[in-house]
Amino acid sequence: MNYLKLLVFLCAVFALACGQSKGDLAVKDVAATRALYTEQKCVVCHGEKGDGGIGPSFKVGAAMTRSVEDIATRIGTGAGVMPSFKEKLNQEQIQELAKFVYKEIQGR
Ligand code: HEC
Repeated sequence: MNYLKLLVFLCAVFALACGQSKGDLAVKDVAATRALYTEQKCVVCHGEKGDGGIGPSFKVGAAMTRSVEDIATRIGTGAGVMPSFKEKLNQEQIQELAKFVYKEIQGR
């Protein structure tokens, strides 16, 4: 009987953990985040569909292997001609942009 309780408990924890990670990756407000992507000029360097231009495409090579956290770090710090956004945007905005790149642009 105790084993059964333990099993039920573990299943519940597992289900919660899965639901959590899926929820975390979904962009809260796609339209607002798309607007931010345009306002902050990401679109100028990376293109409306993320195919690149001045900056790299998000859809090929190493960019496709990065985690949401990794993408968020890159948006925060910038690199080369890409400006740093950590002074201009708050942590939540950076996180939403990272999820936008990951989910909406890369379709992962
Ligand atoms: C002035 C042009 C420019 C702007 C504006 C810009 N980027 Fe970039 N971005 C770049 C360049 C160039 C790189 C490649 C830097 C490097 O690694 O040398 C890059 C890299 C990145 C990467 C990492 C790609 C990889 O290799 O995985 C991400 C993610 C990214 N940019 C997102 C954004 C987002 C989101 C915005 C808007 C908030 C933005 N960028 C604004 C030029 C730009």
